[in-house]
Amino acid sequence: MRLDTNPNIEAVIFDLDGVIVDTAQYHYEAWKTLALEWNYSLKSSDNEALKGVSRKDSVSKIAAWAGVQPSAQELENIASRKNTLYLELCAELTPDDVLAGIENLINELKVNNIKVALGSASKNARFVIEKLKLNNTFDVVVDGNDVLHSKPNPEVFLKAAERMNVQPQSCCVIEDAPAGIQAALKAQMIAVGLGKTSELSQAHLILPNATNLTLSKMKQLYQQILS
Ligand code: BG6
Ligand code: MG
Repeated sequence: MRLDTNPNIEAVIFDLDGVIVDTAQYHYEAWKTLALEWNYSLKSSDNEALKGVSRKDSVSKIAAWAGVQPSAQELENIASRKNTLYLELCAELTPDDVLAGIENLINELKVNNIKVALGSASKNARFVIEKLKLNNTFDVVVDGNDVLHSKPNPEVFLKAAERMNVQPQSCCVIEDAPAGIQAALKAQMIAVGLGKTSELSQAHLILPNATNLTLSKMKQLYQQILS
């Protein structure tokens, strides 16, 4: 995909769950437990469709897959119990749980005066980054409490760019979710997908994880896209 203007990367926006820490797995486990109450066995393909999606939208999607029509109150109750389970799973998180390559990459970006932001759909993002001792790492944190629309809507990334005072075209997003890649593209940002090519085919670059992701690779990508 060709981007319109600026060839410089000025900021990198990191998704949290599944990019910085493997909490995508915890969301899945918690939803799986709750979905069983509707006699629905959540599949891993369902989970791909839930990644990056807000808690409220996720519970509605699961109800639709399960073929149930719960009241608004029951939806809220399930979502709230899912969150309790999720937070129990997160309780043991430590800085050792930061995924491979992430800290090196953040350090490289900072040394090169590239701004770093967190752009997460999660309302628990601040809690999780505190557990990881990354709460003083990001120039800007935009999370599920700051946005009205969940990914694939680009709001979370556009808000992060605005708060950093950089143009969207100068931002690179790192995501593990199809919905997050779509959000980045809608925001006119470079999209790097971490995970499987089959899930993230729309990304500008797909890598299995962050271990080989460097600033120079992102710059190369920019040049390729602009040429
Ligand atoms: C996203 C996750 O980061 O946050 C989704 O990928 C999750 O799975 C969403 O539903 C909302 O998270 P939370 O913590 O507010 O329930
Ligand atoms: Mg994610």
